[in-house]
This record gives sequence, C-alpha cells and structure tokens, in this order.
Amino acid sequence: MRALVWHGKEDIRCDTVTDPKIEDPRDAIVKVTSCAICGSDLHLFHNFIPAMLPGDIMGHEMMGEVVEVGSGVNGHLREGERIVVPFTIICGECEQCKRGNFSVCETTNRKKYLADKVFGHPVAGLFGYTHLTGGYPGGQAEYVRVPFADATHITVPDGLTDEQVLFLGDIFPTGWQAAVQCDIQTTDTVAIWGCGPVGQMAIRSAVLLGARQVVGIDRLPERLSMAEAGGAIAINFEEESVVERLNELTGGKGPEKCIDAIGLESHVSLSQPDTVLDRAKQIMMLESDRGHVLREMIYVCRPAGVISIPGVYGGLVDKVPMGLAMNKGLTFRMGQTHVNRWTDDLRRRIEEGQIDPSFVITHTVGLGEGPEMYKVFRDKQDGCVKVVLKP
Ligand SMILES: NC(=O)c1ccc[n+]([C@@H]2O[C@H](COP(=O)([O-])OP(=O)(O)OC[C@H]3O[C@@H](n4cnc5c(N)ncnc54)[C@H](O)[C@@H]3O)[C@@H](O)[C@H]2O)c1
Ligand SMILES: [Zn+2]
Ligand SMILES: [Zn+2]
Repeated sequence: MRALVWHGKEDIRCDTVTDPKIEDPRDAIVKVTSCAICGSDLHLFHNFIPAMLPGDIMGHEMMGEVVEVGSGVNGHLREGERIVVPFTIICGECEQCKRGNFSVCETTNRKKYLADKVFGHPVAGLFGYTHLTGGYPGGQAEYVRVPFADATHITVPDGLTDEQVLFLGDIFPTGWQAAVQCDIQTTDTVAIWGCGPVGQMAIRSAVLLGARQVVGIDRLPERLSMAEAGGAIAINFEEESVVERLNELTGGKGPEKCIDAIGLESHVSLSQPDTVLDRAKQIMMLESDRGHVLREMIYVCRPAGVISIPGVYGGLVDKVPMGLAMNKGLTFRMGQTHVNRWTDDLRRRIEEGQIDPSFVITHTVGLGEGPEMYKVFRDKQDGCVKVVLKP
C-alpha cells in the first residue's frame, strides 16, 4: 500500500510499504477513506518531538471502512462498518480508561519502558506519534491497523460525510476539551492563542459553551477571519499588543480563561524578543520548547483564572514565571485529548447541526500530494488552514 513515511527532519515521502495485517485478536484493519495533517504532525516534521525512526508511518487523524476484524473484537465492530479512529489508542478496561482518562490509558503503549523513563509513567499508545507512545504506524496511508479496535473507534451515523465527522478523531474534541477544562461561565472572556485548526475548534467550543466574549489571537488574516466568522474578536499580534488589547476588552481585568492552542513552536519574531532567545536556546540544545505563549498567558490572565493547554509541549521550557502563576492563584489544565470521553456528545452536536467541523478544511488532495502539503500547511501558503488527504 501507499503511505506517508517519516525519513528524517522535513523529509516525508509517499512510499510503498507492506500492507498491515491482524497481529492481535483485538485488532481491526481499516481502509482509510479520509485522513488529515495535524499541527502535531508538524512537530514531528521538524523533529522537535524525540523518538521518531526512519520508516515510521505518519498520521493520527483518519477514518474509513473496517475491512477485517480479529477474533477478539467480539462483535463490537463489523466488516463494512464506517468508523472514525481516535488518535489515542484505548483499552477501555484499565483504571484510567474507566475514569475517562483515555490519553493516559495504562495498557495500550507497547513501548511503556520508553515512556516510563522519559515521563515517569507510561501514557497511552498513539497512532503515528513516536516510539514514546508505542511507535504505532499511522493513518496517512491506504490502510491502518487499529489495535484494541473493540474500544478504539468512534461509530459514524449514516448520512454524515467524511468531512463532517473526520475531526471527531482529534481536533474537534481537542478544542472542546480545552474549552471544557476552562469551566466556562457566562461572564467569562476566553482568550485563545493560535487560530490554527485546534484554535478554531476551541473558539467554536467556547462559543457553544456560552462564554460572554471569545478572543482569537494569531497573525494570519485568513485564520483571523475564520475566527471572527466563528464568533471571536480577532487580535493580530503583529499589529497590536496582545496584553493591552486583552486588558482593554476586559476593563483592565484580563481574560478569566486562557487557551494555548500553539504549543512548543510559538512564532519567532523580533517584536517578541523572548521568542528569539528561545529559538537560540533551542538551537544550542539548552531548551527544547519555546514558551512565549505560556509567559504571555500567565501575565495577562485574570487572578484565579484558568490556563488550558491543548498545544503540545515536548520537553523543557525556560523562564516560566511560576511566581506570577502562584501568586495570582492560576489553575493549569492540559494534556493530550481524552478523545472518546467527548465524542458521543460531539457527534450528537454535529447531527443536530449545532456545528459542522468541516468549515476548517481549505485543501483536499490525494495521498501522493501529502509530502508537498506538509510544506504548504507548515508555511501557511495559499490560505491553508486544514488539509484532508484522500488515499
Ligand atoms: N492536546 C492534544 O491532544 C492535541 C491535539 C491536536 C493538536 N494539538 C496541538 O495543538 C497545537 C495547534 O495545532 P494546529 O493544528 O492548530 O496547528 P497550527 O500550527 O496550524 O496552528 C498554530 C497557530 O498558532 C499561530 N501562532 C504561532 N505563534 C503565535 C503566537 N505567539 N501568538 C498567537 N498565535 C501564534 C500560528 O500562526 C498558527 O496559526 C499544536 O501544538 C498541536 O500539536 C494537541
Ligand atoms: Zn493531532
Ligand atoms: Zn486503558
């Protein structure tokens, strides 16, 4: 089959690889009908997250048709069924899964020893996302093996298109979880740094959850317009001071809730000198992640507010002002998304027409164009916000 394969930094190719097959009774094989490139894939493209190996298949946002099931799937899935695959592989049986803490499932990471060394504890297995999370082949491919498939799936109702439901596997529940973790009140201002696909989903989620005022921060006009179309006030951080504008919008109090939908690759510019210092430290291997957004959020957040972090961090961030965070009494919430905790509710909201997540798609191309599209998405060329690939 054809698949997008990681060969090294900024080197992803569409290769012919061996077809996946059932390896465990709980596996299913899915013929991928649609998959997407995620902002998290860019961190791998840039080799910022350790433990990718040449030959690894990329992709963790995919859906398709079940073509084969193992004997242990026990009627939970059938051949011919159409499913979305959550990016977090879950067993559905361990203590964490029972609590709905799916992204820290204790069973599915087949390379637990690696995660245990680096993180202190294992976290769930993820598709196409380094050997720290199991080194499972991803879904930017014609076929994907879904381990623990009896639990690791989201069923799709008839009548909804791939485009409407594909993002249930990642960015929609990710934006939703980021907003839910803010405990939004009707009096709240929710400020969202980054208007990429995750930021866009967080904006719409914060609006659906009843925030008084939602603010989207970015520098790309097409992403800011999309944020406005979703009900947000836009701040272009290249044109105005984020801190001043947020204070202005909140009568000097600061936003009660702040969401970091950017993560470790905050934009580097001379107008934000700390980002240049972070970049220099990154190059000298003195720091792995750029912390500008965390610093800005902690500074501007209203005391007793919440900092919610769906943006991915990989390692160490310098100069996080813990003194400010502590004295202001801020609450931090973060993590890889517990996808299946949210998807029944979100699928219902799509069916009821409360939201159609396909609004975010700007590019739909064949799998063979995938390597080029990584660059287009990374460089935000051609107004690119979200790429869907059709294997
Ligand atoms: N927690 C999870 O489970 C989960 C799931 C999916 C994605 N993610 C993460 O969410 C983050 C966003 O993903 P995405 O797909 O939207 O990526 P993206 O790269 O398309 O979007 C990031 C956006 O942030 C903007 N930006 C950069 N620096 C900024 C700054 N200083 N201030 C304001 N805006 C700035 C960029 O212009 C861009 O539009 C990534 O870190 C990704 O890894 C996490
Ligand atoms: Zn993702
Ligand atoms: Zn589990």
